Amino acid sequence: MAELGDDLIRAGAIALIGMPGGGKSTVGRQLAKRLGWHFADSDVWAEKRIGCSIRSFFESQGEDRFRDVESSVIDELTLLPRTVLGTGGGAVLREENRRLLHSRCHVIYLRSSPEELYRRLRHDASRPLLQVPDPLGRLRELFEKRDPLYREVAHFVVDTGRPSVASLVNMVLMQLELAGVIDAGLVPSPVEPPRSPH
Ligand code: S3P
Repeated sequence: MAELGDDLIRAGAIALIGMPGGGKSTVGRQLAKRLGWHFADSDVWAEKRIGCSIRSFFESQGEDRFRDVESSVIDELTLLPRTVLGTGGGAVLREENRRLLHSRCHVIYLRSSPEELYRRLRHDASRPLLQVPDPLGRLRELFEKRDPLYREVAHFVVDTGRPSVASLVNMVLMQLELAGVIDAGLVPSPVEPPRSPH
């Protein structure tokens, strides 16, 4: 018997891109669950490879060395079948990563404003690029530089704004269905249908 995922797949894997704090991991995990696929987070894989936190690796080895590790992780993870891939916010900085993501995956850009990201991240100590006196200013700079790159790589854009995680997942599923990537009729609903009285 064919597995559910085999029927769903009409093309390659799915990747989520966007700024830090935009919900790539949360939405990615839920999306993978709905599809019955795996979820892989490029930051988690990079940390496994470097053997320490990304923040301390940035401090000891510098950003460029981190980007090398990130690129090799992206090269591997974009080849995994039945996988939703969550990427680090800077994954689009290198041209090679952009090419691999766009050619091997259906790429969804979760787009959030710097102000919204700041509200979510203002107490976060794990992201090295935001450990500065003016994190909102830094988020605005990063957004200005990266938004065009995210748009270049993405097959479609979903604005995160107000919707709940469940609504965002539904929006992504709808886009994937419209693009012919999945057959939404085969995606199990998160809510059990009411039992028949008989
Ligand atoms: C980075 C974002 C982080 C992580 C690293 C660099 C960035 O990932 O890869 O700290 O350059 O924006 P998240 O987007 O998951 O926070």
